[in-house]
Amino acid sequence: MLLSSGSVFLLALAHVCCAKLLRRWDDVAEKHAWVETPKGWQYKAPVPGGHLFDMKIGLKQDGIDALIANLMEISDPSHSRYAQHLSKEEVEAFSAPHRDSVEAVEAWLAHHGLNAADRTSAGDWITIRVSVEQAERLLNTKYGVYQHGPSGEEVVRAMSYSLPKELHSHIDVIAPTTYFGTLRSMRTTSFLQPDIEPLPLEKVAAGLTPAATVPSSCSTTITPACLRALYNTTDYVPVATKLSKLGVAGYLEEFANTADLKTFLKRFRTDAVGSSFSVTLINGGLNTQSEPGVEACLLYCLSSHWLMPSSISTGGSPPFAADSQTPTNTNEPYLDFLNFLLAQSTIPQTLTTSYGDDEQTVPLDYATRVCNMFAMLGSLGTTVFFSSGDFGVGGGDCKTNDGKATVLFQPAFPASCPFVTAVGGTTRVNPEVAVSFSGGGFSRYFAQPSYQATAVSTFLTGLGTKHNGLFNKTGRAYPDVSAQGTGFQVVVGGRITSVGGTSASSPTVAGVFSLLNDFRLFKGNSSLGFINPLIYSTAVSGFTDITSGSNPGCGTNGFTAGKGWDPVTGLGTPNFLALQKLV
Ligand SMILES: *[C@@H]1O[C@H](CO)[C@@H](O)[C@H](O)[C@H]1NC(C)=O
Ligand SMILES: *[C@@H]1O[C@H](CO)[C@@H](O)[C@H](O)[C@H]1NC(C)=O
Ligand SMILES: *[C@@H]1O[C@H](CO)[C@@H](O)[C@H](O)[C@H]1NC(C)=O
Repeated sequence: MLLSSGSVFLLALAHVCCAKLLRRWDDVAEKHAWVETPKGWQYKAPVPGGHLFDMKIGLKQDGIDALIANLMEISDPSHSRYAQHLSKEEVEAFSAPHRDSVEAVEAWLAHHGLNAADRTSAGDWITIRVSVEQAERLLNTKYGVYQHGPSGEEVVRAMSYSLPKELHSHIDVIAPTTYFGTLRSMRTTSFLQPDIEPLPLEKVAAGLTPAATVPSSCSTTITPACLRALYNTTDYVPVATKLSKLGVAGYLEEFANTADLKTFLKRFRTDAVGSSFSVTLINGGLNTQSEPGVEACLLYCLSSHWLMPSSISTGGSPPFAADSQTPTNTNEPYLDFLNFLLAQSTIPQTLTTSYGDDEQTVPLDYATRVCNMFAMLGSLGTTVFFSSGDFGVGGGDCKTNDGKATVLFQPAFPASCPFVTAVGGTTRVNPEVAVSFSGGGFSRYFAQPSYQATAVSTFLTGLGTKHNGLFNKTGRAYPDVSAQGTGFQVVVGGRITSVGGTSASSPTVAGVFSLLNDFRLFKGNSSLGFINPLIYSTAVSGFTDITSGSNPGCGTNGFTAGKGWDPVTGLGTPNFLALQKLV
């Protein structure tokens, strides 16, 4: 008896010793693979084996579950630690990898003759410069040059990648690999609306003095005066302007044009003439003042509606040149941007981004890691807004990309991440109604967070069996809120034009919350941080419920807006004066 338990003990020891010493780096298992080439992309050519690129290894963050649990507490207005945001060092302590993960990944890289010198300060990302040949050996894959039909952009990506089995519990994701989304291919949620006549000049002049009631012209053309009357910000003058910052992420190479901003302010917001914004370029982003873009124009509205200084972060990269010996486009739209922000000592308290993609085009491992990075931003006290998308419950044929081509509603990412605040679109005034393109639905990746459980279950009860099987009842539901999304008057290349999209809605709501942050900072309170638990509970009365309209898509009439939360307009549109009393 004694002897046998002794030998069991020895065996166990032997197991521990050899798992550590004799690692089987050739015993690999698939980490992620696509069944079909992602929609819109086409294989074009092999990549020269000697081509070098930066590979990012996302090590499992040992305390991420604890960070998320903490985020839910500090975002809950009834919790004793409400709004007690974490410092950068505290967030890094949560996001650092376990020593075993670091050791395993270092040993694997060393086995391949690679050195893991370049790390984020938490150590949760390792960046290594590798040749395509080295990367293919490391990940048991084959890289190729793929071209995006609609944008013509070319990237270096793989259809699948594998890792030694031992590393699956230590590595969340490696990029670039199977996520094909790029700065250019992502959907921008805005469009020109040539069918809407821009405002004649005399009307613009009339709109300069915001009325207490919302002018009826706002039904077709939106000016700063319309938004200020609609969302009750007309009389608020920012007070903590040295502290409060609004960040606008322009992932594309579109930029805010200074000349157009001046024209815009002169026409629509004379009291703000002279206000400006700063532009932070990330990762070689361009700031070409000669080619104005539509997207950035929405920033003009934003930086001027609310009289807030805004910092605009433009992440971009030079396009990949197919004939070059050193193709460079291995950049990802999220990782550079988020790692840049997370490395700053101060981050804007409010952040808005107007890009997204069908959730199913983003690999689950990649989407999960990026979503957790939004939880890190929330923990630091930043409110993160994303437009909910411009295709209702789904655009195109809505077929799944798992080889089965099942028609399902197609949720959008990052709107589907439970740690961002997703913003849908409305149109018209007195009353506002849902705009038909307003993106909304239920995630197939992320579970429904508890903060929205009651609101969503009330909606689902009312819905009954409608659309059964087309969406995931247990998934994170969005949008959370909404705002105007059509007829925005902007200046592009010196001319007034109408633009629309939830790209306009997201900065509009961000503008309102940036004023609320301004108010709180002025009072000596911390910023609002992650707002979802707040807006679904004590602040729900600070929104005007939108109760009509729907968001058709996927060959259906979509969801219908009604009383309470709905997956078309969320909780409704913000009422600044009411929210001010609640925060
Ligand atoms: C529904 O969402 C959950 C997350 O809550 C996910 O695990 C599950 O796979 C989803 N189901 C479908 C059919 O998409
Ligand atoms: C705001 O600050 C005041 C004074 O420091 C404090 O009493 C109050 O609890 C804070 N409110 C919130 C919501 O944090
Ligand atoms: C603006 O606030 C006032 C006072 O709270 C309220 O009566 C009015 O309805 C609000 N307007 C909107 C559009 O929410």
